[in-house]
Amino acid sequence: MASHGGEVAIELLPLVRVYKDGTIERLADPPYVPPSSTPDKDTGVSSKDIVISSNVSARLFLPKATSTQKLPLLVYYHGGGFCIESAFSAVHHLYLNRLAAASGALAVSVEYRRAPEHPLPTAYDDCWEALRWVAEPTQRDPWLGEHGDFGRIFIGGDSAGANIVHNILMRVSMEELPGGLKLAGAFLTHPYFFGSEPIGSEPKHGLEQLLPYR
Ligand SMILES: *[C@@H]1O[C@H](CO)[C@@H](O)[C@H](O)[C@H]1NC(C)=O
Repeated sequence: MASHGGEVAIELLPLVRVYKDGTIERLADPPYVPPSSTPDKDTGVSSKDIVISSNVSARLFLPKATSTQKLPLLVYYHGGGFCIESAFSAVHHLYLNRLAAASGALAVSVEYRRAPEHPLPTAYDDCWEALRWVAEPTQRDPWLGEHGDFGRIFIGGDSAGANIVHNILMRVSMEELPGGLKLAGAFLTHPYFFGSEPIGSEPKHGLEQLLPYR
């Protein structure tokens, strides 16, 4: 990446650098890849992108249909320190293809807004909106309507996505989902948590400035 050359305001290596003039450099953002409307040749999983609102979108992953049986639903939140990565990135596209194939779940990989342009709690709110959208019958996408088993909705995520899962689990214990739907389960992969005081080798400055959320 070409060097900006300006004065750095905040650096959270190896993820992101913010300059005093407001320029943001994402240092470790993998390339985006398109969805596969025909089944992926390795996994048989088809994918497509959908819009949930002006703020939130998602990539849907439908495993190869083996029968007319309904599939469990997995709402997935990608990781990336809240500031890099995407549901559309090569990394998460490949991972969700494999996860959908191995689990037999219809996965909804959520594209939420990232810091530092949108500090927390924006990601939490976007991810909650996506889960509500999945549960809402009047907004149901044909793939969800035809193949989804709404008695088996799971949520999961890696890293910052697992932190989001934790937040959503707290929220779902206080607020109803549309139709009174319940979550069947959740998983947190390498969950990413931090406190107000750095521990050990954690950076002394960075996260608390990027994510001014108390
Ligand atoms: C999108 O997010 C902004 C705040 O970031 C909010 O004011 C607006 O209502 C949101 N739009 C929708 C459709 O939820």
